[in-house]
Amino acid sequence: MSNIGSYDERVKNFSWKQAENELEYKEGQIINIGWYCSDRICEMGKADKLALIWEGRTPEQQKKFTFNDIRGYSNTIGAFLHELGIRPEDRVCLFMDKIPELYFGLLGILKIGAIAQPLFSAFGDESLFVRLDNASTRAIITQRKHVSKIHKILDRLPDLEFIIIVDQPENKSLKEREVVFNMEASGPSDHLDIYPTKAESPSLLHYTSGTTGQPKGVKHVHYSLISQYLTTKWVLDLKDDDIYWCTADPGWVTGTSYGIIGPWSLGITQCVSDSGFSADSWYQFIDRHRVTVWYSAPTAIRSLMKAGDDLVKKYDLSSLRHLASVGEPLNAEAVIWSQKVFGKPFYDTYWQTETGSIMIGNFPGMKVKPGSMGKTFPGITGVILDDATGEPISEPNKSGLIGFKYDWPARMRTYWNNEATFQKKFKNGWYLTGDKSTIDPDGYYWFIGRDDDVINTGGHLVSPFEVESALLEHEAVAESAVVSKPDEVNMEVVKAFVTLNPGYEPSEELELKIMNFIRKKLSPLAMPQEIEYLDKLPKTRSGKIMRRLLHAQEWGEEIGDVSTLEDD
Ligand code: WT7
Repeated sequence: MSNIGSYDERVKNFSWKQAENELEYKEGQIINIGWYCSDRICEMGKADKLALIWEGRTPEQQKKFTFNDIRGYSNTIGAFLHELGIRPEDRVCLFMDKIPELYFGLLGILKIGAIAQPLFSAFGDESLFVRLDNASTRAIITQRKHVSKIHKILDRLPDLEFIIIVDQPENKSLKEREVVFNMEASGPSDHLDIYPTKAESPSLLHYTSGTTGQPKGVKHVHYSLISQYLTTKWVLDLKDDDIYWCTADPGWVTGTSYGIIGPWSLGITQCVSDSGFSADSWYQFIDRHRVTVWYSAPTAIRSLMKAGDDLVKKYDLSSLRHLASVGEPLNAEAVIWSQKVFGKPFYDTYWQTETGSIMIGNFPGMKVKPGSMGKTFPGITGVILDDATGEPISEPNKSGLIGFKYDWPARMRTYWNNEATFQKKFKNGWYLTGDKSTIDPDGYYWFIGRDDDVINTGGHLVSPFEVESALLEHEAVAESAVVSKPDEVNMEVVKAFVTLNPGYEPSEELELKIMNFIRKKLSPLAMPQEIEYLDKLPKTRSGKIMRRLLHAQEWGEEIGDVSTLEDD
């Protein structure tokens, strides 16, 4: 029997109070995610249960932690930060690979009432700068190998007081603002004064990219736990004896909502792998740890598909009980393939950094329609909004923007320092996702596409604006326009069109140089996979670059109305 049981019954009798009751939370009382994910589980008698099975680059690099360990280590990190002078609501950035310190650090930050700001460790100096600058971050916890990126931008970050290094060799000297913290040498500590955060106390700041302007800091609060707990229980169907694997990096919201908060608030054992992707090593990982529930992403699934059916047969994957996916369109072929090789489909789920928890999904026991994102989670009111009027459309199968009634616990509370942009996310009282879809007569959502120019490459959002701005910083580039182009595995990848400054000639060598420049400045995700040289960019009469035209060209689509295109 699945945790959700009958979807229809759950919808009929739904109240978030159910999660509040299970978590023994009452309105107005203290709610602290760090405490819920560690201390409370210990108090429930699971102190010796495994919380984390961690693997580094090789299977030999393995570490295991019980719930009592994660309680103790998060206390240690919390106490260390408090001693440094970190206070409630200060922003503390986590800038690390998927090492244990990242997971326990997040809980430690939350325990002292500070705000955790996780950032993807492959970010380059410019991506890092805009996010630390926007949040006026006070401290960053990182690894030695990432420190040089921080020093490059330190002059421009007056609020960043501490660079906390978790793996500093003893014989190396420290530079400006650097502090050493060695978690294992410090040892777990039994006590920490947990800050009495309330439902609306800020918890996390996750950055997401839009079409224009700098990335936006999505502010979440401790009350998000209510949604994250219940969606993990009902959609991912986690049970006491499960071994769960969420492949997402906590630099992105899936890696925190469902890679830390959801499973640990339920007292579930999870595995983490800090090695990169290969089909072989992923199957081995599942086999070795007897993974039962697996939450992954379409790009990874498509890569596994490409690696072939024979590879699957080499491993014993019979432990797998439930599979789920998120982040980008999960094509019907991938669902059908998964049914064929794993004996069960991937259950697609849909949500956003802003929503904080799963909004639409395929639930255990529900009929999966391959290619559909599923139905709204119980308690979520979703609609399709008419393009012209912005009002909900009542007939099925009509396309429009997905809108939600803004009332679930994990919804973002604002964009950090950017309330005006937050307010623009609403129309006629509906929260606008910016995604287009239809709903069929059975209530299933069918994703059509985004309503803006943001590129979703392998499940990661990249802003064309950010890449264009970074390209302009390269000495050879005069003008730039960035769009997506189709890709078999990643669905979309970044493509750049550039015009060159006098004295520069198009060449393959220059293309590689520019690509590398972006990879270092922004990230490997934002790096254009192709750069096309143009003599001139297509622009409107008012001088705006017509990305739409370039996009249509890449995707072989009708170009449409070009009447505003600049005359020759
Ligand atoms: C955007 C949100 C929170 C999950 C990780 C991404 C796209 C997400 C699906 C899906 C088609 C999807 C949407 C959404 N997206 N899930 N199942 N099918 N598209 O979070 O980085 O905030 O991205 O990812 O376009 O708006 P994010």
